[in-house]
Amino acid sequence: MHVSRLRLRDFRNYVRLDLELGPGCHLFLGDNAQGKTNVLEALYLVATLRSFRGVGGAQMVREGARGYFVGATIDSQGLSEVKAYWSATERKLSLNERPVRRLSEYFGVLRAVVFCSEDLALVKGASRGRRRFLDLILAQTEPGYLTLLMRYARALKSRNALLKHPVPDEAQLEGFSHEVVSAGTGLMVARTALLPRITPWIQDAFRRISGDVDELELRHRPGVREDFAVALSNSRARERVMRTTLVGPHRDDVEFLVNGRNASQYTSEGQKRTLALALKLAQAEYLSSVVGMPPVLLIDDVMGELDASRRAAFVPLLERAFRAGGQVFMTCTEENWPQDLGRSLTRWSVRRGGIVPVSSEPLGP
Ligand SMILES: Nc1ncnc2c1ncn2[C@@H]1O[C@H](COP(=O)(O)OP(=O)(O)OP(=O)(O)O)[C@@H](O)[C@H]1O
Ligand SMILES: [Mg+2]
Repeated sequence: MHVSRLRLRDFRNYVRLDLELGPGCHLFLGDNAQGKTNVLEALYLVATLRSFRGVGGAQMVREGARGYFVGATIDSQGLSEVKAYWSATERKLSLNERPVRRLSEYFGVLRAVVFCSEDLALVKGASRGRRRFLDLILAQTEPGYLTLLMRYARALKSRNALLKHPVPDEAQLEGFSHEVVSAGTGLMVARTALLPRITPWIQDAFRRISGDVDELELRHRPGVREDFAVALSNSRARERVMRTTLVGPHRDDVEFLVNGRNASQYTSEGQKRTLALALKLAQAEYLSSVVGMPPVLLIDDVMGELDASRRAAFVPLLERAFRAGGQVFMTCTEENWPQDLGRSLTRWSVRRGGIVPVSSEPLGP
Protein backbone atom coordinates (compact mmCIF):
# COMPACT_ATOMS: atom_id res chain seq x y z
CA MET A 1 0.00 0.00 0.00
CA HIS A 2 1.36 3.41 -0.89
CA VAL A 3 0.24 6.92 -1.73
CA SER A 4 1.25 7.60 -5.32
CA ARG A 5 -0.05 11.13 -5.54
CA LEU A 6 -0.83 13.89 -3.07
CA ARG A 7 -2.50 17.17 -3.92
CA LEU A 8 -3.05 20.02 -1.49
CA ARG A 9 -4.92 23.26 -2.06
CA ASP A 10 -5.08 25.91 0.67
CA PHE A 11 -4.07 23.35 3.26
CA ARG A 12 -2.12 24.91 6.17
CA ASN A 13 0.81 26.82 4.62
CA TYR A 14 0.39 25.13 1.21
CA VAL A 15 -1.35 27.20 -1.44
CA ARG A 16 -0.85 24.45 -3.97
CA LEU A 17 1.14 21.23 -3.82
CA ASP A 18 1.31 18.36 -6.30
CA LEU A 19 3.53 15.43 -5.36
CA GLU A 20 4.13 12.21 -7.24
CA LEU A 21 5.34 9.56 -4.82
CA GLY A 22 6.74 6.07 -5.12
CA PRO A 23 6.87 3.31 -2.50
CA GLY A 24 9.84 3.25 -0.12
CA CYS A 25 11.20 5.80 2.26
CA HIS A 26 10.65 9.53 1.84
CA LEU A 27 12.58 12.02 3.87
CA PHE A 28 11.22 15.57 4.17
CA LEU A 29 14.05 17.90 5.07
CA GLY A 30 13.75 21.55 5.96
CA ASP A 31 14.13 24.23 8.57
CA ASN A 32 11.54 24.81 11.27
CA ALA A 33 8.08 26.06 10.27
CA GLN A 34 8.45 25.24 6.55
CA GLY A 35 5.61 22.71 6.25
CA LYS A 36 7.10 19.27 7.01
CA THR A 37 4.60 18.23 9.66
CA ASN A 38 1.78 19.74 7.62
CA VAL A 39 2.35 17.21 4.82
CA LEU A 40 2.26 14.31 7.27
CA GLU A 41 -0.90 15.78 8.74
CA ALA A 42 -2.51 15.78 5.28
CA LEU A 43 -1.52 12.15 4.69
CA TYR A 44 -2.90 11.15 8.08
CA LEU A 45 -6.08 13.05 7.27
CA VAL A 46 -6.57 10.93 4.15
CA ALA A 47 -6.21 7.78 6.28
CA THR A 48 -8.35 8.73 9.27
CA LEU A 49 -10.22 11.94 8.34
CA ARG A 50 -8.71 13.51 11.45
CA SER A 51 -5.66 15.58 12.31
CA PHE A 52 -3.14 13.87 14.56
CA ARG A 53 -2.66 17.26 16.20
CA GLY A 54 -6.18 16.96 17.59
CA VAL A 55 -7.54 20.04 15.80
CA GLY A 56 -10.64 20.53 13.67
CA GLY A 57 -10.96 21.44 10.00
CA ALA A 58 -10.87 25.21 10.52
CA GLN A 59 -7.25 25.21 11.72
CA MET A 60 -6.14 23.32 8.62
CA VAL A 61 -7.61 25.82 6.15
CA ARG A 62 -4.86 28.14 4.96
CA GLU A 63 -5.18 31.54 6.58
CA GLY A 64 -7.34 33.77 4.41
CA ALA A 65 -8.73 30.89 2.30
CA ARG A 66 -12.31 29.57 2.37
CA GLY A 67 -11.62 25.86 2.56
CA TYR A 68 -8.95 23.24 2.05
CA PHE A 69 -8.73 20.47 -0.50
CA VAL A 70 -6.72 17.29 -0.05
CA GLY A 71 -6.56 14.79 -2.89
CA ALA A 72 -4.69 11.48 -2.91
CA THR A 73 -4.23 8.45 -5.11
CA ILE A 74 -3.64 5.26 -3.18
CA ASP A 75 -2.05 2.25 -4.81
CA SER A 76 -3.07 -0.96 -3.08
CA GLN A 77 -4.27 -3.83 -5.26
CA GLY A 78 -5.68 -1.23 -7.65
CA LEU A 79 -5.92 2.53 -7.45
CA SER A 80 -8.20 4.53 -5.16
CA GLU A 81 -8.81 8.20 -5.72
CA VAL A 82 -9.68 10.25 -2.64
CA LYS A 83 -10.88 13.84 -2.66
CA ALA A 84 -11.66 15.75 0.51
CA TYR A 85 -12.86 19.32 0.72
CA TRP A 86 -13.59 21.15 3.94
CA SER A 87 -14.93 24.62 4.62
CA ALA A 88 -16.98 26.09 7.44
CA THR A 89 -20.13 25.57 5.39
CA GLU A 90 -19.38 22.61 3.15
CA ARG A 91 -17.75 19.20 3.51
CA LYS A 92 -17.20 16.83 0.64
CA LEU A 93 -15.55 13.45 0.56
CA SER A 94 -15.38 11.25 -2.49
CA LEU A 95 -13.83 7.91 -3.26
CA ASN A 96 -13.25 7.11 -6.93
CA GLU A 97 -15.44 10.08 -7.93
CA ARG A 98 -18.38 8.82 -5.86
CA PRO A 99 -19.52 10.66 -2.72
CA VAL A 100 -18.80 8.68 0.43
CA ARG A 101 -22.11 8.11 2.22
CA ARG A 102 -20.87 5.90 4.99
CA LEU A 103 -17.54 6.48 6.67
CA SER A 104 -17.32 2.77 7.42
CA GLU A 105 -16.99 2.17 3.68
CA TYR A 106 -14.14 4.63 3.50
CA PHE A 107 -11.99 3.39 6.39
CA GLY A 108 -9.22 1.09 5.25
CA VAL A 109 -8.61 2.86 1.92
CA LEU A 110 -5.35 4.09 3.43
CA ARG A 111 -3.98 2.68 6.67
CA ALA A 112 -1.42 4.86 8.38
CA VAL A 113 0.34 4.99 11.72
CA VAL A 114 1.83 8.25 12.91
CA PHE A 115 4.76 8.68 15.29
CA CYS A 116 4.79 12.17 16.74
CA SER A 117 5.44 14.12 19.92
CA GLU A 118 1.73 13.93 20.80
CA ASP A 119 2.15 10.16 21.34
CA LEU A 120 3.41 10.80 24.86
CA ALA A 121 -0.17 11.70 25.81
CA LEU A 122 -1.05 8.01 25.40
CA VAL A 123 0.92 7.40 28.59
CA LYS A 124 0.63 10.73 30.39
CA GLY A 125 -2.68 12.09 29.18
CA ALA A 126 -6.38 11.47 29.71
CA SER A 127 -8.16 8.18 29.01
CA ARG A 128 -9.77 9.57 25.84
CA GLY A 129 -6.46 9.25 23.98
CA ARG A 130 -6.11 5.60 24.96
CA ARG A 131 -9.69 4.85 23.88
CA ARG A 132 -8.95 6.54 20.54
CA PHE A 133 -5.85 4.41 20.16
CA LEU A 134 -7.92 1.23 20.54
CA ASP A 135 -10.75 2.60 18.40
CA LEU A 136 -8.46 3.50 15.52
CA ILE A 137 -6.95 0.01 15.45
CA LEU A 138 -10.40 -1.56 15.57
CA ALA A 139 -11.80 0.79 12.92
CA GLN A 140 -8.92 -0.17 10.63
CA THR A 141 -9.23 -3.91 11.18
CA GLU A 142 -12.84 -4.79 12.07
CA PRO A 143 -15.56 -4.11 9.55
CA GLY A 144 -18.56 -2.59 11.29
CA TYR A 145 -16.67 -1.23 14.30
CA LEU A 146 -16.79 2.37 13.13
CA THR A 147 -20.54 2.19 12.54
CA LEU A 148 -20.97 0.89 16.08
CA LEU A 149 -18.75 3.65 17.45
CA MET A 150 -20.74 6.35 15.67
CA ARG A 151 -24.06 4.82 16.77
CA TYR A 152 -22.84 4.80 20.37
CA ALA A 153 -21.57 8.39 20.22
CA ARG A 154 -24.88 9.61 18.77
CA ALA A 155 -27.04 7.74 21.28
CA LEU A 156 -24.86 8.84 24.19
CA LYS A 157 -25.03 12.46 23.11
CA SER A 158 -28.83 12.37 22.86
CA ARG A 159 -29.13 10.56 26.18
CA ASN A 160 -26.88 13.08 27.93
CA ALA A 161 -28.81 15.99 26.42
CA LEU A 162 -32.03 14.47 27.74
CA LEU A 163 -30.54 13.97 31.20
CA LYS A 164 -29.94 17.73 31.38
CA HIS A 165 -33.71 18.32 31.42
CA PRO A 166 -35.17 18.88 34.89
CA VAL A 167 -37.66 16.07 34.26
CA PRO A 168 -36.45 13.80 31.43
CA ASP A 169 -39.15 12.05 29.41
CA GLU A 170 -39.01 8.45 30.61
CA ALA A 171 -40.06 6.85 27.32
CA GLN A 172 -37.45 8.79 25.39
CA LEU A 173 -34.81 7.94 27.96
CA GLU A 174 -35.74 4.28 27.64
CA GLY A 175 -35.24 4.46 23.87
CA PHE A 176 -31.80 6.09 24.12
CA SER A 177 -30.77 3.72 26.91
CA HIS A 178 -31.64 0.78 24.71
CA GLU A 179 -29.51 2.09 21.84
CA VAL A 180 -26.63 3.00 24.16
CA VAL A 181 -26.63 -0.51 25.60
CA SER A 182 -26.93 -2.19 22.23
CA ALA A 183 -24.09 -0.28 20.52
CA GLY A 184 -22.02 0.00 23.71
CA THR A 185 -22.03 -3.73 24.34
CA GLY A 186 -20.63 -4.26 20.86
CA LEU A 187 -17.84 -1.76 21.56
CA MET A 188 -16.98 -3.43 24.86
CA VAL A 189 -16.86 -6.87 23.29
CA ALA A 190 -14.52 -5.65 20.51
CA ARG A 191 -12.20 -3.74 22.86
CA THR A 192 -12.07 -6.61 25.35
CA ALA A 193 -11.12 -9.00 22.55
CA LEU A 194 -8.49 -6.64 21.12
CA LEU A 195 -6.50 -6.09 24.31
CA PRO A 196 -5.12 -9.62 24.78
CA ARG A 197 -4.39 -9.77 21.04
CA ILE A 198 -2.39 -6.56 20.91
CA THR A 199 -0.69 -6.86 24.33
CA PRO A 200 2.04 -9.31 23.20
CA TRP A 201 2.97 -6.92 20.37
CA ILE A 202 3.25 -4.00 22.80
CA GLN A 203 5.24 -6.04 25.35
CA ASP A 204 7.53 -7.29 22.64
CA ALA A 205 8.23 -3.79 21.28
CA PHE A 206 8.69 -2.47 24.82
CA ARG A 207 11.15 -5.25 25.68
CA ARG A 208 13.09 -4.66 22.49
CA ILE A 209 13.52 -0.95 23.20
CA SER A 210 14.15 -1.14 26.94
CA GLY A 211 16.61 -3.99 26.50
CA ASP A 212 14.57 -6.50 28.52
CA VAL A 213 15.05 -4.68 31.81
CA ASP A 214 11.48 -3.57 32.47
CA GLU A 215 8.35 -5.68 32.65
CA LEU A 216 5.19 -4.24 31.10
CA GLU A 217 1.61 -5.26 31.81
CA LEU A 218 -1.66 -3.85 30.47
CA ARG A 219 -4.78 -3.77 32.56
CA HIS A 220 -8.21 -3.07 31.12
CA ARG A 221 -10.17 -0.64 33.29
CA PRO A 222 -13.66 -1.08 31.87
CA GLY A 223 -16.26 1.68 32.16
CA VAL A 224 -18.83 -0.99 33.09
CA ARG A 225 -18.03 -3.92 35.35
CA GLU A 226 -21.29 -5.85 35.07
CA ASP A 227 -24.03 -6.30 32.51
CA PHE A 228 -24.33 -2.88 30.82
CA ALA A 229 -28.15 -2.69 30.97
CA VAL A 230 -28.14 -3.57 34.68
CA ALA A 231 -25.33 -1.12 35.45
CA LEU A 232 -27.13 1.64 33.56
CA SER A 233 -30.39 1.19 35.43
CA ASN A 234 -28.51 0.91 38.74
CA SER A 235 -26.87 4.26 38.05
CA ARG A 236 -30.15 6.14 37.50
CA ALA A 237 -30.25 7.67 40.99
CA ARG A 238 -26.72 9.06 40.59
CA GLU A 239 -27.50 10.16 37.03
CA ARG A 240 -30.35 12.32 38.35
CA VAL A 241 -27.80 14.22 40.40
CA MET A 242 -24.95 14.29 37.90
CA ARG A 243 -27.18 14.70 34.80
CA THR A 244 -24.98 12.64 32.57
CA THR A 245 -24.39 8.98 31.66
CA LEU A 246 -22.01 7.62 34.28
CA VAL A 247 -21.29 4.10 33.10
CA GLY A 248 -20.37 2.74 29.68
CA PRO A 249 -17.49 2.22 27.29
CA HIS A 250 -17.01 6.01 27.08
CA ARG A 251 -15.39 5.55 30.50
CA ASP A 252 -13.12 2.66 29.43
CA ASP A 253 -9.43 2.99 30.12
CA VAL A 254 -6.26 0.96 29.89
CA GLU A 255 -3.68 1.11 32.65
CA PHE A 256 -0.02 0.48 31.90
CA LEU A 257 2.05 -1.11 34.63
CA VAL A 258 5.82 -1.02 34.43
CA ASN A 259 7.41 -3.40 36.92
CA GLY A 260 4.04 -3.60 38.63
CA ARG A 261 3.54 0.15 39.09
CA ASN A 262 1.32 2.61 37.26
CA ALA A 263 3.32 3.98 34.34
CA SER A 264 1.88 7.50 34.30
CA GLN A 265 2.71 8.05 37.97
CA TYR A 266 5.88 6.07 38.62
CA THR A 267 7.99 5.90 35.47
CA SER A 268 10.74 8.20 34.25
CA GLU A 269 10.29 10.41 31.20
CA GLY A 270 12.49 8.02 29.23
CA GLN A 271 10.35 5.02 30.19
CA LYS A 272 7.20 6.93 29.24
CA ARG A 273 8.68 7.73 25.85
CA THR A 274 9.69 4.10 25.40
CA LEU A 275 6.16 2.98 26.22
CA ALA A 276 4.55 5.51 23.87
CA LEU A 277 6.85 4.36 21.07
CA ALA A 278 6.13 0.70 21.85
CA LEU A 279 2.39 1.37 21.55
CA LYS A 280 2.82 2.86 18.10
CA LEU A 281 5.25 0.21 16.87
CA ALA A 282 2.81 -2.44 18.09
CA GLN A 283 -0.04 -0.70 16.29
CA ALA A 284 1.90 -0.82 13.02
CA GLU A 285 3.01 -4.43 13.50
CA TYR A 286 -0.45 -5.59 14.53
CA LEU A 287 -2.02 -3.86 11.50
CA SER A 288 0.56 -5.47 9.20
CA SER A 289 -0.16 -8.92 10.58
CA VAL A 290 -3.96 -8.64 10.53
CA VAL A 291 -4.33 -6.88 7.20
CA GLY A 292 -1.44 -8.66 5.49
CA MET A 293 0.32 -5.48 4.39
CA PRO A 294 2.16 -2.79 6.31
CA PRO A 295 0.46 0.55 6.95
CA VAL A 296 2.06 3.74 5.69
CA LEU A 297 4.33 5.07 8.44
CA LEU A 298 4.41 8.78 9.20
CA ILE A 299 7.36 9.56 11.43
CA ASP A 300 7.41 13.18 12.49
CA ASP A 301 10.70 14.49 13.79
CA VAL A 302 11.05 11.72 16.34
CA MET A 303 14.12 10.08 14.82
CA GLY A 304 16.50 12.87 15.69
CA GLU A 305 15.37 12.82 19.31
CA LEU A 306 15.63 9.09 19.86
CA ASP A 307 18.67 7.31 21.20
CA ALA A 308 20.24 4.41 19.32
CA SER A 309 18.26 1.63 21.00
CA ARG A 310 14.92 3.32 20.36
CA ARG A 311 15.87 4.06 16.77
CA ALA A 312 16.93 0.45 16.32
CA ALA A 313 13.43 -0.66 17.37
CA PHE A 314 12.18 0.74 14.06
CA VAL A 315 14.45 -1.50 12.01
CA PRO A 316 12.23 -4.62 11.78
CA LEU A 317 9.25 -2.45 10.90
CA LEU A 318 11.09 -0.52 8.20
CA GLU A 319 12.61 -3.72 6.80
CA ARG A 320 9.16 -5.25 6.50
CA ALA A 321 7.75 -2.09 4.93
CA PHE A 322 10.50 -2.10 2.29
CA ARG A 323 10.10 -5.82 1.55
CA ALA A 324 6.35 -5.49 1.16
CA GLY A 325 6.54 -2.43 -1.09
CA GLY A 326 5.20 -0.18 1.68
CA GLN A 327 5.87 3.46 2.27
CA VAL A 328 7.47 5.50 5.02
CA PHE A 329 7.54 9.28 5.44
CA MET A 330 9.93 10.94 7.82
CA THR A 331 10.64 14.55 8.65
CA CYS A 332 13.97 15.96 9.79
CA THR A 333 15.29 19.45 10.35
CA GLU A 334 18.76 18.41 9.24
CA GLU A 335 20.05 15.29 7.69
CA ASN A 336 20.70 13.35 10.85
CA TRP A 337 18.93 10.25 9.65
CA PRO A 338 21.13 7.22 10.47
CA GLN A 339 21.98 5.50 7.23
CA ASP A 340 21.78 2.01 8.72
CA LEU A 341 18.00 2.41 9.09
CA GLY A 342 17.10 3.33 5.54
CA ARG A 343 18.01 1.18 2.57
CA SER A 344 17.16 3.88 0.11
CA LEU A 345 15.69 7.26 0.65
CA THR A 346 13.97 9.77 -1.54
CA ARG A 347 14.95 13.13 -0.17
CA TRP A 348 12.70 16.16 -0.47
CA SER A 349 13.44 19.71 0.47
CA VAL A 350 10.57 21.52 2.20
CA ARG A 351 10.66 25.30 2.09
CA ARG A 352 7.88 27.84 2.68
CA GLY A 353 5.08 25.55 1.63
CA GLY A 354 6.90 24.14 -1.39
CA ILE A 355 8.45 20.68 -1.83
CA VAL A 356 11.11 19.74 -4.37
CA PRO A 357 13.14 16.55 -4.74
CA VAL A 358 16.74 16.77 -3.54
CA SER A 359 18.01 13.57 -5.05
CA SER A 360 17.15 9.92 -5.11
CA GLU A 361 20.04 7.72 -4.30
CA PRO A 362 20.37 4.21 -2.96
CA LEU A 363 22.20 3.84 0.33
CA GLY A 364 23.43 0.51 1.53
CA PRO A 365 22.74 -2.88 -0.04
N1 LIG B 1 -3.97 27.34 8.72
C1 LIG B 1 -2.75 27.79 8.39
N2 LIG B 1 -2.59 28.72 7.41
C2 LIG B 1 -1.37 29.17 7.07
N3 LIG B 1 -0.24 28.76 7.65
C3 LIG B 1 -0.32 27.84 8.61
C4 LIG B 1 -1.57 27.30 9.04
N4 LIG B 1 -1.35 26.41 10.01
C5 LIG B 1 -0.02 26.39 10.20
N5 LIG B 1 0.60 27.23 9.37
C6 LIG B 1 2.05 27.49 9.24
O1 LIG B 1 2.67 26.40 8.64
C7 LIG B 1 4.05 26.50 8.91
C8 LIG B 1 4.71 25.14 8.87
O2 LIG B 1 4.21 24.31 9.87
P1 LIG B 1 4.80 22.86 10.14
O3 LIG B 1 4.26 22.44 11.45
O4 LIG B 1 4.53 21.95 9.00
O5 LIG B 1 6.35 23.13 10.25
P2 LIG B 1 7.56 22.10 10.26
O6 LIG B 1 8.27 22.23 8.98
O7 LIG B 1 7.09 20.76 10.66
O8 LIG B 1 8.47 22.75 11.40
P3 LIG B 1 9.21 22.09 12.67
O9 LIG B 1 10.55 21.64 12.19
O10 LIG B 1 9.33 23.26 13.60
O11 LIG B 1 8.36 21.00 13.22
C9 LIG B 1 4.16 27.28 10.21
O12 LIG B 1 4.87 28.45 9.99
C10 LIG B 1 2.72 27.60 10.57
O13 LIG B 1 2.59 28.89 11.08
MG1 LIG C 1 7.20 19.74 12.45
